[in-house]
Parts: sequence; structure tokens; C-alpha cells
Amino acid sequence: SWDSSSQIENAVKSIRETVDKEGKDTKVICALSGGVDSCVAAVLAQKAVGDRLLCLFINNGLLRKNEYNEVLDRFKKDLNLNVKGVDASELFLGRLAGVQDPEQKRKIIGNTFIDVFEAETKEIPNAKFLVQGTLYPDVIESISLHGTSVTIKTHHNVGGLPEKMKFKLIEPLRELFKDEVRRLGAEMGIPQDMLARHPFPGPGLGIRVLGEVTKERLNILREADAIFIEELKKQNHYHSTWQAFVVLLPVNSVGVMGDGRTYESVAAIRCVSATDGMTADWTKLPYDFLAHVSSRIINEVKGINRVVYDISTKPPATIEWE
Ligand code: XMP
Repeated sequence: SWDSSSQIENAVKSIRETVDKEGKDTKVICALSGGVDSCVAAVLAQKAVGDRLLCLFINNGLLRKNEYNEVLDRFKKDLNLNVKGVDASELFLGRLAGVQDPEQKRKIIGNTFIDVFEAETKEIPNAKFLVQGTLYPDVIESISLHGTSVTIKTHHNVGGLPEKMKFKLIEPLRELFKDEVRRLGAEMGIPQDMLARHPFPGPGLGIRVLGEVTKERLNILREADAIFIEELKKQNHYHSTWQAFVVLLPVNSVGVMGDGRTYESVAAIRCVSATDGMTADWTKLPYDFLAHVSSRIINEVKGINRVVYDISTKPPATIEWE
């Protein structure tokens, strides 16, 4: 539309002017999360400064099934972004070993992200700017939560880099809501399925494997989550929901499989409707759909013998469990 294209033109012009003021060889960095916001921000910056934009996509070992390779590939092939993949899974998982507390996990993941990011960017000559996909609701939520010094969860995403970092920030989406960002992305030719991706938290599956995060439990969760998402897409529920995912609970329950007793993990399914994530309602998915997902997960994923559906609204619950 005219509206989106003039918004794009303005954003691109403003980024280019800001960057060029520091010299024609000035570089811009962007940490891609795999989500919509950083992706749209990066494509805007790429339009403004071309290959002077250097993107990083860091694998924290907490991404979904096949996500790292698939998303990295699409950044390169579909969006032509100048992107470097950094596989830091072992570092993240090593630091998370033995840790159960949600806030501690969030802090470790956030700090490790900063360490990896700093190590990767400190040698890049003339890197002076950082592009971030901060949205309007991010700005508001951090004011209302942190401004009154009530921190509910330590939010971290690519917007959570410390101020002491030498970079100047470029935040082209700061005044926009998610639907507007998706519209801009579409106007710039980003494929629909990339724009339609559900929000995914910076700490990733690290806060969806409740309690201690191990490779084994991450893999169990990945399999279950992939089944749920596959079914949502197949039955046309994916696009009508804000977020949908599986949570692996640190609880075992007794079951029966064949003539044997099982004692395995419980998985919770979470599916919510929302417009900005600040409030949310659980989605009234059809019973037969839930039944199908439950039986597929229990039959196909070794390590899960029971599935429950989360019927809590936000508030007073939150969307994520940790
Ligand atoms: P909650 O669980 O607080 O989540 O209701 C609200 C929305 O934010 C996402 N979320 C995060 N996003 N870094 C992020 O980038 C985080 O640390 C984080 N924690 C939660 C969550 O998935 C939901 O969309």
C-alpha cells in the first residue's frame, strides 16, 4: 500500500543518513533472532546500506527442531542477507547445566548471548551501529514493568544488549505494532510464512523445558512441539493464534503402554490468542484436534506419556511458564 511504501522509504532514508554521517565505510550490525521483528528491521537496514549490514544468527542450542539450519538458509537464499551463523550451543548448554531457577536461567542465557555477540563483533572494523527490532509494545512493557521496578521476568531478546556497548542503536520499528511490522515486511517482499511466524522468546526452549535444561529434554520437547505446530498448520489453526507451543514439565506421571507400566514426563500444550502479548486468552481449540495432537505426541515421542492443555489467561498467568 501507499502507506507502507512511504513508511519504508522514510525509514530507509533515515537509516542511510544516520549511518552515512559517520562515514561511507561505516558498518551496521544486526543480531537476527529468527523472528519477524529483527528480520524486518534487518531488511530495512539492508535496503539502506546494502552489504555494509552484517547480520549474526546465533544458535544458543535452545531453538526448535531444525530451526537453526532452516532459518539461516532462508536468510541467505530468500532474503540475500549478509549473515553469519554462529553455533554457540555448547557454550550455552554448558553454562545452563545444573541450573533450575527460571530467573537464573534467563540471566545466564542473556549474559551468554552478550558474550558471544561481543566476541563476534569486536574485531569488525568501523562497526558503529546496531539495528534492533524493538516494537512499540516492547517499549511500553518495559516502561510499565521496569519503570515501577516490578520485574516479572527478565526479558531478554536482541533488544537486551547492554548500554555500555559501543554501538549506537537504530530501531526502525519502535513506533509500530506487530501487524504493521508484518505489513511492512510483506511490502518489502519477505515471504509470508516468515512473516507469519509466531513470537518466540529470546531464551527459547530454555524457558519451556521447566527446571534443568538438558540436551535430552530439549530433544523430547522439540519432537513434541514439532508435532503440535505441524498439526496446527495442517488444520488451519496456526494463523489464527498468537502463539502455540509445548512446555515440558519437570514432573513424571504413571502410564500404561502395552502391558507395561511407564513413568515419564508430562507435556503441557499452550495456545493463546492475543493482539500484542500483553494480555492473552487461551484458545478454544476443538476437542478432537486436541485429542489427535495428544495421541500423536504420546505415541510418537519417547519420554512423554501424558499431555495436558493449559487453560489459563494472562493475567494472572503469563504466556510462557517461566
Ligand atoms: P509472557 O510470558 O511474559 O510473555 O506473558 C509475553 C510475550 O513475550 C515473549 N517473551 C519473551 N520475548 N524475550 C523475548 O524476546 C524474552 O525473554 C521473553 N519472555 C517472554 C513470550 O513468548 C510472549 O510472546
